[in-house]
Amino acid sequence: MIPIAENLIFHIQRTDSTNNYANQQIRLGSLPEGTVFLTYEQTSGRGQMQNIWESEPGKNLTFSIVLYPEFLEIRRQFMLSKVVALGIYSALSKYVDHLKIKWPNDIYVGNKKLGGILIENSVMSGLLKSTVVGIGLNVNQKVFLSDAPNPVSLQLLTNQQYDGEIILTEVLSEIKLYYELLRRGKKDEIDREYISALYRLYEMHNFRTEGENFIGEIIGVNEIGQLIIRKESGKILEFQFKEVEFLQAN
Ligand code: BTN
Repeated sequence: MIPIAENLIFHIQRTDSTNNYANQQIRLGSLPEGTVFLTYEQTSGRGQMQNIWESEPGKNLTFSIVLYPEFLEIRRQFMLSKVVALGIYSALSKYVDHLKIKWPNDIYVGNKKLGGILIENSVMSGLLKSTVVGIGLNVNQKVFLSDAPNPVSLQLLTNQQYDGEIILTEVLSEIKLYYELLRRGKKDEIDREYISALYRLYEMHNFRTEGENFIGEIIGVNEIGQLIIRKESGKILEFQFKEVEFLQAN
Protein backbone atom coordinates (compact mmCIF):
# COMPACT_ATOMS: atom_id res chain seq x y z
CA MET A 1 0.00 0.00 0.00
CA ILE A 2 1.17 3.53 -0.57
CA PRO A 3 0.49 5.61 2.51
CA ILE A 4 0.33 9.23 1.54
CA ALA A 5 -0.05 10.67 4.99
CA GLU A 6 1.57 14.06 5.35
CA ASN A 7 4.27 12.74 7.70
CA LEU A 8 5.52 10.46 4.96
CA ILE A 9 6.23 13.37 2.66
CA PHE A 10 9.68 14.70 3.45
CA HIS A 11 10.17 18.27 2.30
CA ILE A 12 13.79 18.91 1.43
CA GLN A 13 14.94 22.43 0.72
CA ARG A 14 17.70 21.50 -1.68
CA THR A 15 19.30 18.30 -2.94
CA ASP A 16 21.18 17.12 -6.00
CA SER A 17 18.41 14.74 -7.04
CA THR A 18 15.48 13.37 -5.09
CA ASN A 19 16.17 9.98 -6.69
CA ASN A 20 19.70 10.02 -5.25
CA TYR A 21 18.32 11.15 -1.91
CA ALA A 22 15.67 8.40 -1.85
CA ASN A 23 18.21 5.75 -2.83
CA GLN A 24 20.51 6.85 0.01
CA GLN A 25 17.64 6.77 2.51
CA ILE A 26 16.64 3.27 1.40
CA ARG A 27 20.20 2.12 2.05
CA LEU A 28 20.14 3.68 5.52
CA GLY A 29 17.18 1.76 6.82
CA SER A 30 13.59 0.74 6.54
CA LEU A 31 11.33 3.35 5.03
CA PRO A 32 7.60 2.72 4.73
CA GLU A 33 6.39 2.03 1.23
CA GLY A 34 5.03 5.20 -0.31
CA THR A 35 7.49 7.53 1.41
CA VAL A 36 7.91 10.65 -0.70
CA PHE A 37 10.91 12.94 -0.93
CA LEU A 38 9.94 16.31 -2.35
CA THR A 39 12.39 19.09 -2.95
CA TYR A 40 12.14 22.80 -3.56
CA GLU A 41 15.40 22.84 -5.50
CA GLN A 42 17.23 20.12 -7.36
CA THR A 43 20.81 20.97 -8.27
CA SER A 44 21.51 17.95 -10.51
CA GLY A 45 18.11 16.66 -11.49
CA ARG A 46 18.44 13.57 -13.62
CA GLY A 47 16.36 12.65 -16.64
CA GLN A 48 16.32 9.57 -18.80
CA MET A 49 19.28 8.80 -21.01
CA GLN A 50 21.71 10.75 -18.82
CA ASN A 51 19.86 13.99 -19.59
CA ILE A 52 19.56 16.70 -17.01
CA TRP A 53 16.14 17.59 -15.68
CA GLU A 54 15.62 21.33 -15.59
CA SER A 55 13.36 22.71 -12.91
CA GLU A 56 13.37 26.29 -11.65
CA PRO A 57 13.51 26.25 -7.83
CA GLY A 58 10.11 26.44 -6.19
CA LYS A 59 8.16 26.46 -9.43
CA ASN A 60 7.52 22.81 -10.16
CA LEU A 61 7.12 19.41 -8.60
CA THR A 62 10.26 17.32 -8.26
CA PHE A 63 9.87 14.30 -6.03
CA SER A 64 10.56 10.62 -5.62
CA ILE A 65 8.39 7.84 -4.24
CA VAL A 66 9.76 4.71 -2.59
CA LEU A 67 8.04 1.43 -3.52
CA TYR A 68 8.65 -2.21 -2.72
CA PRO A 69 6.98 -4.04 -5.61
CA GLU A 70 8.06 -7.48 -4.43
CA PHE A 71 4.91 -8.97 -5.93
CA LEU A 72 6.04 -8.08 -9.45
CA GLU A 73 8.24 -10.34 -11.55
CA ILE A 74 11.25 -8.55 -12.96
CA ARG A 75 10.18 -9.30 -16.50
CA ARG A 76 7.01 -7.34 -15.81
CA GLN A 77 8.79 -4.26 -14.44
CA PHE A 78 7.46 -2.08 -17.27
CA MET A 79 4.10 -2.33 -15.50
CA LEU A 80 5.52 0.15 -12.98
CA SER A 81 6.08 2.69 -15.74
CA LYS A 82 2.51 2.16 -16.84
CA VAL A 83 0.93 2.61 -13.42
CA VAL A 84 2.94 5.71 -12.59
CA ALA A 85 2.32 7.31 -15.97
CA LEU A 86 -1.39 6.50 -15.71
CA GLY A 87 -1.59 7.97 -12.22
CA ILE A 88 -0.08 11.24 -13.38
CA TYR A 89 -2.16 11.22 -16.56
CA SER A 90 -5.32 10.68 -14.60
CA ALA A 91 -4.56 13.38 -12.00
CA LEU A 92 -3.52 16.00 -14.55
CA SER A 93 -6.44 15.32 -16.88
CA LYS A 94 -8.46 17.51 -14.53
CA TYR A 95 -6.22 20.48 -15.38
CA VAL A 96 -5.50 20.10 -19.10
CA ASP A 97 -7.07 18.52 -22.15
CA HIS A 98 -5.33 16.41 -24.75
CA LEU A 99 -2.92 14.74 -22.37
CA LYS A 100 -1.05 11.74 -23.71
CA ILE A 101 1.56 9.31 -22.47
CA LYS A 102 4.50 9.27 -24.81
CA TRP A 103 6.13 5.86 -24.71
CA PRO A 104 7.64 4.82 -22.47
CA ASN A 105 6.42 7.21 -19.79
CA ASP A 106 6.57 10.88 -20.69
CA ILE A 107 3.57 13.05 -20.02
CA TYR A 108 2.70 15.05 -23.11
CA VAL A 109 0.24 17.70 -24.17
CA GLY A 110 0.20 18.01 -27.94
CA ASN A 111 3.84 17.76 -28.91
CA LYS A 112 5.12 19.23 -25.66
CA LYS A 113 6.47 17.56 -22.57
CA LEU A 114 4.77 18.40 -19.30
CA GLY A 115 6.41 15.78 -17.15
CA GLY A 116 8.86 12.94 -16.98
CA ILE A 117 9.47 9.84 -14.90
CA LEU A 118 12.74 8.22 -13.93
CA ILE A 119 12.29 4.78 -12.38
CA GLU A 120 15.24 3.09 -10.70
CA ASN A 121 14.89 -0.50 -9.55
CA SER A 122 17.01 -2.43 -7.16
CA VAL A 123 16.96 -6.16 -7.69
CA MET A 124 17.90 -8.91 -5.26
CA SER A 125 17.75 -12.67 -5.85
CA GLY A 126 15.81 -12.15 -9.04
CA LEU A 127 13.10 -10.03 -7.39
CA LEU A 128 12.34 -6.34 -7.42
CA LYS A 129 13.43 -5.27 -3.98
CA SER A 130 12.90 -1.56 -4.04
CA THR A 131 11.99 1.03 -6.60
CA VAL A 132 12.52 4.74 -6.63
CA VAL A 133 10.01 6.51 -8.82
CA GLY A 134 11.30 9.98 -9.65
CA ILE A 135 8.76 12.41 -11.05
CA GLY A 136 9.25 15.86 -12.50
CA LEU A 137 6.14 17.85 -13.36
CA ASN A 138 6.33 21.33 -14.81
CA VAL A 139 3.77 23.36 -12.95
CA ASN A 140 4.48 27.11 -12.79
CA GLN A 141 7.74 27.52 -14.71
CA LYS A 142 7.39 29.97 -17.59
CA VAL A 143 10.85 29.99 -19.16
CA PHE A 144 12.99 26.93 -19.83
CA LEU A 145 16.70 27.49 -20.33
CA SER A 146 18.11 24.06 -21.06
CA ASP A 147 18.16 22.57 -24.53
CA ALA A 148 15.31 20.20 -23.70
CA PRO A 149 13.47 20.26 -27.00
CA ASN A 150 9.86 20.86 -26.07
CA PRO A 151 9.10 21.59 -22.40
CA VAL A 152 5.83 23.08 -21.27
CA SER A 153 4.19 23.73 -17.91
CA LEU A 154 0.63 23.82 -16.62
CA GLN A 155 0.96 27.58 -16.29
CA LEU A 156 2.13 28.00 -19.88
CA LEU A 157 -0.75 25.85 -21.08
CA THR A 158 -3.53 27.47 -19.09
CA ASN A 159 -2.25 30.89 -18.03
CA GLN A 160 -2.96 30.09 -14.41
CA GLN A 161 -0.81 29.53 -11.34
CA TYR A 162 -1.14 26.32 -9.40
CA ASP A 163 -0.56 25.11 -5.87
CA GLY A 164 1.98 22.35 -6.30
CA GLU A 165 1.10 20.68 -2.99
CA ILE A 166 -2.49 20.15 -4.09
CA ILE A 167 -1.37 18.63 -7.37
CA LEU A 168 1.12 16.46 -5.51
CA THR A 169 -1.62 15.03 -3.28
CA GLU A 170 -3.81 14.29 -6.30
CA VAL A 171 -0.99 12.70 -8.25
CA LEU A 172 0.03 10.51 -5.30
CA SER A 173 -3.50 9.37 -4.72
CA GLU A 174 -3.99 8.40 -8.40
CA ILE A 175 -0.65 6.59 -8.53
CA LYS A 176 -1.70 4.72 -5.43
CA LEU A 177 -4.94 3.61 -7.12
CA TYR A 178 -3.12 2.25 -10.16
CA TYR A 179 -0.40 0.65 -8.05
CA GLU A 180 -3.05 -1.16 -6.03
CA LEU A 181 -4.69 -2.33 -9.27
CA LEU A 182 -1.33 -3.78 -10.24
CA ARG A 183 -0.92 -5.46 -6.88
CA ARG A 184 -4.36 -7.02 -7.35
CA GLY A 185 -3.28 -8.40 -10.72
CA LYS A 186 -5.52 -6.19 -12.87
CA LYS A 187 -2.97 -6.14 -15.61
CA ASP A 188 -5.41 -6.13 -18.53
CA GLU A 189 -7.21 -3.09 -17.20
CA ILE A 190 -3.92 -1.22 -16.78
CA ASP A 191 -2.74 -2.27 -20.25
CA ARG A 192 -5.99 -1.09 -21.81
CA GLU A 193 -5.82 2.31 -20.18
CA TYR A 194 -2.14 2.75 -20.98
CA ILE A 195 -2.66 1.93 -24.65
CA SER A 196 -5.64 4.22 -24.98
CA ALA A 197 -3.58 7.11 -23.56
CA LEU A 198 -0.61 6.49 -25.86
CA TYR A 199 0.77 9.40 -27.88
CA ARG A 200 0.59 8.86 -31.65
CA LEU A 201 -1.17 5.52 -31.42
CA TYR A 202 -2.38 4.34 -34.84
CA GLU A 203 -1.10 7.47 -36.59
CA MET A 204 1.43 7.48 -39.40
CA HIS A 205 4.58 9.33 -38.34
CA ASN A 206 8.27 9.56 -39.02
CA PHE A 207 10.63 7.64 -36.79
CA ARG A 208 14.37 7.15 -36.79
CA THR A 209 16.38 4.07 -35.92
CA GLU A 210 20.04 3.24 -36.51
CA GLY A 211 20.53 6.43 -38.52
CA GLU A 212 17.61 5.78 -40.87
CA ASN A 213 14.22 7.43 -41.05
CA PHE A 214 11.08 5.47 -41.70
CA ILE A 215 7.34 5.98 -41.63
CA GLY A 216 5.14 3.80 -39.52
CA GLU A 217 2.39 3.66 -36.93
CA ILE A 218 2.55 2.65 -33.30
CA ILE A 219 0.30 -0.34 -32.80
CA GLY A 220 1.11 -1.24 -29.22
CA VAL A 221 3.63 -2.00 -26.51
CA ASN A 222 4.64 -5.59 -25.77
CA GLU A 223 4.94 -7.45 -22.45
CA ILE A 224 8.47 -6.25 -21.84
CA GLY A 225 7.69 -2.66 -22.67
CA GLN A 226 9.02 -2.54 -26.21
CA LEU A 227 7.26 -0.22 -28.62
CA ILE A 228 5.61 -2.01 -31.55
CA ILE A 229 5.58 -0.09 -34.82
CA ARG A 230 4.12 -1.25 -38.14
CA LYS A 231 6.11 0.16 -41.03
CA GLU A 232 4.45 1.39 -44.21
CA SER A 233 5.55 -1.85 -45.80
CA GLY A 234 3.55 -3.79 -43.21
CA LYS A 235 6.66 -5.06 -41.45
CA ILE A 236 6.33 -5.06 -37.68
CA LEU A 237 9.24 -3.87 -35.56
CA GLU A 238 9.78 -3.88 -31.78
CA PHE A 239 12.02 -1.34 -30.14
CA GLN A 240 13.59 -0.95 -26.76
CA PHE A 241 13.92 2.48 -25.23
CA LYS A 242 16.75 4.41 -26.96
CA GLU A 243 16.48 2.32 -30.12
CA VAL A 244 13.89 4.51 -31.78
CA GLU A 245 13.41 8.24 -31.99
CA PHE A 246 10.16 10.03 -32.66
CA LEU A 247 10.57 12.68 -35.37
CA GLN A 248 8.42 15.78 -35.51
CA ALA A 249 7.92 16.39 -39.21
CA ASN A 250 5.58 14.10 -41.05
C1 BTN B 1 12.76 12.26 -18.02
O1 BTN B 1 13.85 12.39 -18.57
O2 BTN B 1 11.72 12.44 -18.65
C2 BTN B 1 12.68 11.87 -16.58
C3 BTN B 1 12.73 13.08 -15.69
C4 BTN B 1 12.62 12.73 -14.23
C5 BTN B 1 12.88 13.93 -13.37
C6 BTN B 1 12.61 13.67 -11.92
S1 BTN B 1 12.63 15.12 -10.94
C7 BTN B 1 12.57 14.17 -9.49
C8 BTN B 1 13.47 12.98 -9.71
N1 BTN B 1 14.82 13.28 -9.37
C9 BTN B 1 15.63 13.27 -10.42
O3 BTN B 1 16.85 13.53 -10.41
N2 BTN B 1 14.94 12.95 -11.52
C10 BTN B 1 13.55 12.71 -11.21
